[in-house]
This record gives sequence, C-alpha cells and structure tokens, in this order.
Amino acid sequence: MDNDKFKAARMALERIPDHAIVGLGSGSTASVFIELLAKKVHKTGMEITCVATSHQTQNLGLTLGLRVVDIDDVDQVDITVDGADEVDGNLNGIKGGGAALLFEKVVATNSKHNIWVVDSSKQHRKLGAVKLPVEVIRFGSQHVYNYLDRHGLKPSYRMANFSQRLLTDSNNFIIDIDISKVEDLGELTRRLKGLTGVVEHGLFMNICDELLVGNTEEAFQRPG
Ligand code: 5RP
Repeated sequence: MDNDKFKAARMALERIPDHAIVGLGSGSTASVFIELLAKKVHKTGMEITCVATSHQTQNLGLTLGLRVVDIDDVDQVDITVDGADEVDGNLNGIKGGGAALLFEKVVATNSKHNIWVVDSSKQHRKLGAVKLPVEVIRFGSQHVYNYLDRHGLKPSYRMANFSQRLLTDSNNFIIDIDISKVEDLGELTRRLKGLTGVVEHGLFMNICDELLVGNTEEAFQRPG
C-alpha cells in the first residue's frame, strides 16, 4: 500500500464518527480509505452506512463488507472522503481523473462535510496543470467537441483503449480540455454548464471543506 495514500486515508479515518453516513470517493487514494474504514468497522462494530461515487467504489465497498446504500436512500451524507487530481490554496480543485466526476459531484454536493485526501504533488497555486474533464452525452458530442476546439480549449476524447472512447458509469463520453490559459474559471464553467449536451465538468469550486495531505501529514481548512 502506498505510504502517502495510507497516511492521508488514516487521517481521514480519524474524522469518521460512529453512526455516520459516509460518502466513499473514487480513485486509488479513496480506495485506501475504504479499505481502512472496512477494517475499522469490522474490528470495532461501528455502525456506518456508505454511499458510493462510482460503480467501482460500490463494488469495493460491498466486497469489503461495508453497508453501501443508494444516494437516494439517505437524506444527506455526513462526510465524504474523496481524492482529487489537483487542488489550489482555496481548496478548489479538479476531479474526474477516474471518470467518476458526475457521481462524485452529486455525492459531494449532498454532503455536510467534504474531505479530500491527496499528496502534495496535487497542490498547485493555479488550477490547470491537469486537463479538465467534461462529461457529455454521446448524442451530438462532436458538436460540443467542435465548440470547445473553436474556443482554443484543445479538446480530446478520453479513450478506454486505442480505438474506443471511454464510457462513464452513466454511459456518457468524457472530453478533456486544457484550461491552463483560462483566466476566469467561473465564467468558463458557467458557459460549459450552459452548453446543451454537457452533463457536468470536473471543476469543484467551494466544495472541499478539508484537505488532508498524506506525505506532509498536513490538514487545511477551506478559507472563510
Ligand atoms: C476520480 C477522481 C479521483 O478522486 C482522482 O482522480 C484522484 O485519484 P487518485 O487518488 O487515484 O490520484 O476524481 O474521478
């Protein structure tokens, strides 16, 4: 098990109270947290209910013997623990490297407290070192692609393999775009959300409440 991921996941585990409804993130760091959570639940008999942010995470949680229910079976999630691809000093970030951004955002925006578990390589002063994923329905996706291309965002379809486009858990495509030259990310994301055929994007603004950095064992709260 990667030691930095383990440290971040262990810090997150300390923040989970008994009887909590816990959002389980997706990706390799969130998976380490899920493994630790399952071990603690079995060892201590804690009463934890989970909701998952992807089919893969749901399978992992169930395989490890966690109680995983549908997001619509709970009123609200108490704490969600998820990874991130990039995060800035205001705890805004980019997610969706594992193509789970849509369910991740649904769970996060219905969570009272969102914790991200990362290592310091994910911390950046300005967002845009990684591509921003945009989830689009398949029908007419080339027109969204062309729009993004015309606006200089260097789009590329996320591929599952050499010849096939990746399909998300909702059977959509992902188009990754380059936002490194974009000054006003708020304006960009408003435009993206207004484009017919776009389902969601991977920019998570004002969502993460607490950032846990494994290798430095630091915790940061969202400013303000
Ligand atoms: C999946 C995500 C992941 O949380 C993100 O890609 C980070 O993954 P990892 O912990 O493996 O670096 O957003 O859609």
